[in-house]
Amino acid sequence: MVTRKIEGKEYMIPTHIAIIMDGNGRWAKAKNKPRTYGHSQGSQILEKVCEEADDLGVKYITVYAFSTENWGRPKDEVDALMKLLRKFLKDSIKKAKKNSMRVRIIGSRNNLDADILESIIKLENETAHLTGLTLQIALNYGSRNELVRAMKSMMIDIKDEKLTLEQIDEANFEKYLDTQGIPEPDLLIRTSGEHRLSNFLLWQLAYTEFYFTEKYWPDFDKDELIKAIKYFNQRERRFGGV
Ligand code: IPE
Ligand code: IPE
Ligand code: MG
Repeated sequence: MVTRKIEGKEYMIPTHIAIIMDGNGRWAKAKNKPRTYGHSQGSQILEKVCEEADDLGVKYITVYAFSTENWGRPKDEVDALMKLLRKFLKDSIKKAKKNSMRVRIIGSRNNLDADILESIIKLENETAHLTGLTLQIALNYGSRNELVRAMKSMMIDIKDEKLTLEQIDEANFEKYLDTQGIPEPDLLIRTSGEHRLSNFLLWQLAYTEFYFTEKYWPDFDKDELIKAIKYFNQRERRFGGV
């Protein structure tokens, strides 16, 4: 973990920050605007936050963008989110290259339209070699779905005799998760005043510190990010020790 001076004081910077970007709809409603306006504002904020986090020395950011449960929203909202996603994926290639950012998408690849899948693969391939911040986007993601998929792949490897029952341990199991190769989040941020995980990274967040803010995601900014980092620095991580 790197340290950085913020307002004259030295702080540890979390290597990996996970964010549940929540409250877009309520933010828009408070402004008498359609929920989709909140989503579009929210996606712009994400870009800014990535740049600010990168400047502070954060190495990985994982954001919850669309959950497996979000398909249950009204069709016009889902359609608007997919449209926004298409634009985000396309624009990201240029921006990622400019900021030397590597982008990975986690979540199920089922149910996604063919052109979205294609954009995901293109974005991942074209940024795979970049060595700045790694941005993981949880898209069509649900932790239970991820765990079940991991279990299934593991069973296939056992059937194909690539893996034995004795070899299954925590380290080996992690290799089957979408987040394989990425360190666990040090800090989780959830905006909009909700205090729940909503099926996000259940395995990976086992020892993560949680920071909650009342702010809606489109109002999240550098000050709020610094507040979260200061909060993180007050915590004593014991990992089950004394
Ligand atoms: C988070 O904002 C973005 C997505 C889930 C896609 P919401 O859309 O959940 O906004 P609220 O929670 O209804 O205000
Ligand atoms: C979690 O937010 C998912 C994302 C932020 C993408 P939701 O708004 O969908 O979660 P709940 O419904 O409040 O649990
Ligand atoms: Mg919400």
